[in-house]
Formats: sequence, C-alpha cells, structure tokens
Amino acid sequence: MAPVHVAIIYYSATGTVHALAQAAAEGAEKAGARVRLRKVAELAPPEAISAKPAWAQHLQDTADVAEAGLDDLDWADAVLFGTPARFGNPASPLRAFIETTSGLWGHGKLADKVYSAFTASNTVHGGQESTLLALGNTFYHWGGIIVPPGYTDPIQFQSGNPYGASHVDGDGPPNDVSLEAARYQARRVVDTAASLKAGRAA
Ligand SMILES: Cc1cc2nc3c(=O)[nH]c(=O)nc-3n(C[C@H](O)[C@H](O)[C@H](O)COP(=O)(O)O)c2cc1C
Repeated sequence: MAPVHVAIIYYSATGTVHALAQAAAEGAEKAGARVRLRKVAELAPPEAISAKPAWAQHLQDTADVAEAGLDDLDWADAVLFGTPARFGNPASPLRAFIETTSGLWGHGKLADKVYSAFTASNTVHGGQESTLLALGNTFYHWGGIIVPPGYTDPIQFQSGNPYGASHVDGDGPPNDVSLEAARYQARRVVDTAASLKAGRAA
C-alpha cells in the first residue's frame, strides 16, 4: 500500500514547538510515513522580533524550513499541528494559516483526514489543554478524525498529557520525555491513518 502522507504544520517563535515538530517528524518517518515538516508564515513585525534575540535567532535557524501551503493539507492523509500556548490559545500565525483553508473545506477536502495537535507553554497550568482543545474545534468543523495520544503508551504516564504532546519550557528545552511523547503521538497518528487508508482501499 502507498505510504501514509503526514503533514506536520507548526508555529514556533523560540524553538520549543519546532523541537517537538522535529520529533513528531522522526516518529512519523519511523512509522513508515512520507512526511512534510512545514512552518507557518511569521506575522509579527520585525521590531517585535528583533526585540527578542531568541526569536530572531530561531527565525534565522529555521529559514530553510518550507512554509506551509494549502497543497500540504490537500496532500496529507494526516496532519499534526503544533503551536505554543498564547494566552491559552493557539498562536495567531497558525490561526491565520487555518483561516486560509475555507476553499479546501468548502470542497470537502479537509474531511476524513486524521488530525492531532501538540503544544508548549511556559508554565504547568498555562493553558496547554485549552490550546489543544481550541484547535480541536477546527478539526470538528473540518469533519476530521481526531486522534489524541490518550494514555495508550507508557510514555504518556511520564509526559502526562492525553490531549497531545506538550512541553513546559519554563523547565528548559524539550527533554527526552517530551520528545518521545511527540514521536509516539506521530506514530499513533500514522498507524491510525494507515488503517483507515487500507480500509478505504479494500
Ligand atoms: C504572546 C505570548 C503569550 C503566551 N501565553 C502563554 C500562556 O498562555 N501560557 C503559558 O504557559 N505560556 C505562554 N507563553 C509562553 C509560550 O507558550 C512558551 O514559552 C512556549 O514554549 C514557546 O514556544 P516556542 O519556543 O515554540 O515559541 C506565551 C508567550 C507569548 C509570547
């Protein structure tokens, strides 16, 4: 059977979500998927970015990561979205990208795909779950098949977030547990999408 196509579409200002996105890409590739790792376009004004050296540095470090386009969504059997928590919500550059999808949505092209999401925040109770659940609202509108990690693997009992891989960067950059949770989530997404693809082809 043709490999599952997975798009990993993320926003990251200072690199935390980018690290999770890379781990998710590793997990998906290892599970046999064809993967597109895509950042969404930055929307912040240059003066805001240059006022925060870590932000400017990360933009420079990821200059070679391709930007997400609607064709990536169209191509994908499964999509993992990554975003930092921004006042308990997804970051606006990711929302802006999502708000360009109404053409695909109107043609039913976003339905029946597998969707899942991961996040990062600065504090433990800083809104990881509200951020992931807010993205889930969009997946419902799209008619998506939401695949959360739940507590379906031992890593989930260490990382602790059944809604999606999450990291608290107040504790430092993504550690082995957070990265492994992102790899595991991607693997589960690929396995589910592969079963669906095989079932539909039968
Ligand atoms: C405008 C803004 C809003 C934020 N809101 C939250 C928040 O609601 N809760 C939280 O814990 N951290 C919040 N943070 C911190 C980021 O979510 C956190 O540092 C995240 O790991 C950054 O990911 P990145 O390095 O991929 O950009 C906020 C940061 C910014 C710049």
